[in-house]
Amino acid sequence: MGNDGTAAQIVAGDAQRRTDSPSSSTSSTWTIKKELLDVGLYLLCDADTKDSEYVFVERVAEGSTVDSTYANRISGCRSLSHQGLYCYHLRAWRRYYLTSGVCSSVPLRLYEDVTESGGQNSLWSAGLVMANYIDKGNGLALPGKRVLDMGAGAGLTSMVAAVGGAGAVVATEQPTCMAYLTNNLAMNKHVPVDARPLYWTTDEPAVPEQEQFDLVLACDVTYDPSLFDALLCTMKGYLKRAGGVALVCHDNDSCPLSPAAEKGLTSRCVGRGISFDPVDLTDKVDPPFYEKSVRMWRLAHDV
Ligand SMILES: C[S@@+](CC[C@H](N)C(=O)[O-])C[C@H]1O[C@@H](n2cnc3c(N)ncnc32)[C@H](O)[C@@H]1O
Repeated sequence: MGNDGTAAQIVAGDAQRRTDSPSSSTSSTWTIKKELLDVGLYLLCDADTKDSEYVFVERVAEGSTVDSTYANRISGCRSLSHQGLYCYHLRAWRRYYLTSGVCSSVPLRLYEDVTESGGQNSLWSAGLVMANYIDKGNGLALPGKRVLDMGAGAGLTSMVAAVGGAGAVVATEQPTCMAYLTNNLAMNKHVPVDARPLYWTTDEPAVPEQEQFDLVLACDVTYDPSLFDALLCTMKGYLKRAGGVALVCHDNDSCPLSPAAEKGLTSRCVGRGISFDPVDLTDKVDPPFYEKSVRMWRLAHDV
């Protein structure tokens, strides 16, 4: 109920006349898209203007009532077609990413704790860009492929790969960060992703061929050059020799990678028999996601 005791009735699939919205002087009819109900996400379409927006109403079941001030609460939300929908709630952000492109239209739910100082409980730009890159297809041909996400964090990239039809997706994190990953995956039971702890070390793991991966994702994990060796050794062990590709994404805004550090990354790859090629992201990610600061590299075993 709202502060004034009034409540707006939300009934999935029905047209609702929103007469109590503080932000609209005239009443307008909103249609609520039913498929999104299970994640508390609604596509509202204004019948007069044809504008639509995604709104988030927490803990609302079909036919229940919601606080009449919700229109105010969503005013700060950005469009889902851009960088996800944000709702400030109890000092934490809940973000929704709506897949499009090859991944059709599947809402993915993320929890982000902006009060956590290490930034380990949030989605990073490199991960968001990678999610869109996967979502747009980009020749990845996911169906049937085995995908490994290293340092998966919130798990968005893993989930988008799973929605895109990958045969198996394994999202990994260091043991201390597993809870954040598994909690986010648990909010998205409609997406099949397996979560496992994986701490990178400089001992290259001996992984049997059938357990290796066709595609390895590594987003915003190149912020610390002292981790390069462990990252690359572990990646090499898990990457399929024949045809395996690793995509590494880095955002210079979240952590500038000096030319010397980038050279160090390249030479470590070359020294290990791994090819290292930049991916030009122009036209490969949607404009709202495209940032000049974001870089991507394609790594593979030398043949
Ligand atoms: C900046 S976050 C990026 C998270 C996610 N990939 C994204 O783009 O939003 C870096 C992640 O790498 C993980 N990480 C750092 N060092 C690691 C290690 N030695 N072994 C495994 N994971 C590690 C962290 O736990 C963290 O979740």
